[in-house]
Amino acid sequence: MSVKTSGRENWGSKVGFILAAAGSAIGLGNIWKFPYIAGENGGAAFIFIYLICIAVIGLPVLIAEVLLGRTTQRNPVGAFKALSNSPYWTAIGAMGVIAGFVILSFYGVVAGWSFGYIFEAIKGSFYEFEQPNSAADFFGSLTSNVAWIVGFLALFMCLTMFIVYSGVQKGIERGSKILMPLLLIILIILMIKGITLDGSEKGIAFILQPDWSLVSGESVLLALGHAFFTLSLGMGAMMTYGSYMSKKDSIPGASLQIVFLDTFIALIAGVAIFTAVFATGLDPAAGPGLIFQTLPVVFTKMPGGYIFSIMFFLLLTIAALTSSISLLEVVVAYFVDEKKWARKKAVIVFGTVTFLVGVPSALSFNLIADVKLFGLNFFDLADWLASNILLPVGGLFISVFVAWVWGFDKVLVELKRGAESLFDNYPWIITFWKIFIKYFSPVLIFLVFLHSIGVLDLIIDLFK
Ligand code: PHE
Repeated sequence: MSVKTSGRENWGSKVGFILAAAGSAIGLGNIWKFPYIAGENGGAAFIFIYLICIAVIGLPVLIAEVLLGRTTQRNPVGAFKALSNSPYWTAIGAMGVIAGFVILSFYGVVAGWSFGYIFEAIKGSFYEFEQPNSAADFFGSLTSNVAWIVGFLALFMCLTMFIVYSGVQKGIERGSKILMPLLLIILIILMIKGITLDGSEKGIAFILQPDWSLVSGESVLLALGHAFFTLSLGMGAMMTYGSYMSKKDSIPGASLQIVFLDTFIALIAGVAIFTAVFATGLDPAAGPGLIFQTLPVVFTKMPGGYIFSIMFFLLLTIAALTSSISLLEVVVAYFVDEKKWARKKAVIVFGTVTFLVGVPSALSFNLIADVKLFGLNFFDLADWLASNILLPVGGLFISVFVAWVWGFDKVLVELKRGAESLFDNYPWIITFWKIFIKYFSPVLIFLVFLHSIGVLDLIIDLFK
């Protein structure tokens, strides 16, 4: 295959790629979403199912995405175009670029809250809270303030643009090499703090002792959907990062490390949060408000809470930032590769466009709270559209393409590059991957998708 690759940037090292890709995976999904959905769905039992989904679907699809990127050295649109030459497959790549806009527009709003909360933590605002109610009122008063919510969205987007503007090696890779270790250190400190609080054992038990009665078909599908979101799959973020990867490095090896880091961080974030929540006698199943409404109360009640609250929101903002840069990079790579734009121009234009698309999401908490489409406000609609439609459909087509369309002998040749010893010593790993990517992933993703648009429930009802 002759794809021109000259002049395209690459990661400086294998570690650089792993840290950047882990940075994309580790985000609001791990620290904001995962603890509250685990809290609402039975703790340990949900976590167990989630781990299976990560292994059975997450890892195989991640390998497929990175492989598509590395083989073609292109953004999602260019990758499908180079390998299929069909407008239909190219449209799947285009859907990824659109998903980049959609996700970033609501993701930036939550990341903006987190950024804003760093300053609230520094000001000591949380010390006025005794009860979750007063924290909820406080959160409500901030998010109904248009200048606060739009302002922090804008600031967060500027940070994201700054890193992507500086390029793959000097921006994304360098940023990830500084931010990811910092994130890990802060999280480990918070986890140790959580475990050493009086009453933390109830939090640990919540994570380790499964209560299977709380698990339903619904939680299985939720776990699967989250496995997708948390590994940044289905929209080409991992494809784009894979496109800067060297053919000398092993894709299965790197993917395994990324999945391990993402899962490890979600679990220790869960330990840090649940030990603290249980030790202060609060409710773990507090929904999306767990981080912005319950945790501030936890901090006021815990010794040293002032400093830990600053660390926590710094951690959350860093995690969101290393993910949002990967979202913007998908859009930027498309304009750089396909439309021959200069990177700097693409960043300024599309960073601004994403900010503008994010404004209605931000205003969904105040000025246009009553404007609803399909019963959802703009923010919820963007989240729903991305997590329930664009990512699963994208993931489904990515696995179908790699498993059935590209030509599996060619797939294996590409996958083997950089992973020769793995192929020689552990051929069964490849056999497993083949089975998962050909059968398990497409079928399971299809089921999640049917569920998210409500069709599966209709079918289940028919058989009742
Ligand atoms: N994986 C990120 C998180 O867990 C979210 C994300 C999804 C980032 C899709 C890029 C692409 O927060």
